[in-house]
Amino acid sequence: MIDFYSQALIYLESVQPSAPAWLEQIKEDGLAQKVPIIRDDMGVFIRMICALRQPETILEIGCGISYATHWMLLGSPRSRVVAIDSNQQRVEQCKTYLEESGYIDRVELRNCWAEDFFKDNHQYFDLIFQDSTKKGYAGMIDQCYQCLKPGGILVVDNVFFNGKVFGLTPDQEKKYSNGVVSVRAFNEKMAKHPGFECSFLPLSDGILVAQRIR
Ligand SMILES: C[S@@+](CC[C@H](N)C(=O)[O-])C[C@H]1O[C@@H](n2cnc3c(N)ncnc32)[C@H](O)[C@@H]1O
Repeated sequence: MIDFYSQALIYLESVQPSAPAWLEQIKEDGLAQKVPIIRDDMGVFIRMICALRQPETILEIGCGISYATHWMLLGSPRSRVVAIDSNQQRVEQCKTYLEESGYIDRVELRNCWAEDFFKDNHQYFDLIFQDSTKKGYAGMIDQCYQCLKPGGILVVDNVFFNGKVFGLTPDQEKKYSNGVVSVRAFNEKMAKHPGFECSFLPLSDGILVAQRIR
């Protein structure tokens, strides 16, 4: 018996307009190369957040090959994005796609570790999209808070770790228990953080939307 959530996903895929063909192509390339990219329901969601908020400045932590960057720019084409990734090959591919789509002038691409970026960053952002390695999420909370403008929004993908935060089967224990501990620690720290108002959404692989409230 298929559960409510899976049914909703299948139904929404049939009614929701798909991405433009050029963006579908970036997705196809990513899937073919086994490069991690956001799911389409996350893409639709982050585009809507950007359309509603029209952030002047966006920080994307873990931009990969630009799939999510493009979803955000579809929602708010005038935003300026700082897009970071530690993987040089992906950053180069990201640049090529941004040149092809015509959005390259809106994006400052940085091939570095987010942790290093934060060490000498003096910019403030209206929106931060955190989509890097889950085990690093908790360690970047303070840096994200510091460089978010008051009222700004932090959106985080994969806070359910493909369902693993709900519990692991015995054969998953060895491989995933450290990751689960990290993601749970992140979720709990965010939920209790006095500077953020949080909403955990059972969309995609679990999305956290947090607003800086002080
Ligand atoms: C899930 S992928 C990003 C997918 C991308 N947001 C998209 O949907 O197209 C995660 C990316 O984060 C990068 N990454 C992981 N940890 C990082 C860190 N600490 N600093 C910078 N980049 C990181 C990886 O190289 C990888 O390309």
